[in-house]
Amino acid sequence: MFLKLKIAPKLRFLSLLISKFEEKIMLDQIFTDLYNELKFGYLKKKHPFRYFCLASANQNKINQRTVVLRKITESNELIIYTDARSQKIKEYAENKLASALFYHPKKLLQIQVQGKIQIITSGKEYQEHWQKIQGNSQNDFITQLPPGTPIKNSDEVSYKVEGHHFCLLKLKMNYVEYLQLKRPNHIRASFTLNEEKEWEGQFLNP
Ligand SMILES: Cc1cc2nc3c(=O)[nH]c(=O)nc-3n(C[C@H](O)[C@H](O)[C@H](O)COP(=O)(O)O)c2cc1C
Repeated sequence: MFLKLKIAPKLRFLSLLISKFEEKIMLDQIFTDLYNELKFGYLKKKHPFRYFCLASANQNKINQRTVVLRKITESNELIIYTDARSQKIKEYAENKLASALFYHPKKLLQIQVQGKIQIITSGKEYQEHWQKIQGNSQNDFITQLPPGTPIKNSDEVSYKVEGHHFCLLKLKMNYVEYLQLKRPNHIRASFTLNEEKEWEGQFLNP
């Protein structure tokens, strides 16, 4: 009886420790999978994460648009190309907060990203990315008129012979949420970047 009283709390503590450890292993695995899946967005042809929805907040409005995922840096940044004159740049210049949404229809997998946008219009990294854009793809950044300017018809678009408005956007991720619909239980988990630059995982009720 005495032995039972002494050992029981220790066993309970040990089993708690083991279940915490198992939870951490599962969350780490989910994070590795989701990060790989994001990377496939630009590494694998036709991967559904190539295109994602990027949101910005205006004073009293939320705006969303589809963009192409170009890369993910070692520092957890999503790289996006855009025209420096576009509406999103005005919005991010005032409010850095951004949200990105990815959806994989075959896997019924949704990934939500939150973070801050950095607008880059010069420097070595900027030049390296601009040099990757060849031929007709450059047209997206050399229109005479800024994106969103009213025109009479779509044949009216004209292009600059010199100069461009290429702009690099970096979305520095600080929060990622994973949701996979599956039976018997959906899996939902959040990952928050802490002060030590480590991702802290937490399972959530789906
Ligand atoms: C398939 C697809 C991919 C797109 N990729 C980009 C992109 O990588 N960068 C970009 O600035 N706009 C891209 N666009 C256009 C945007 O959705 C949006 O119309 C444009 O950037 C203007 O948005 P804004 O006025 O909110 O700045 C894409 C549109 C589609 C349909």
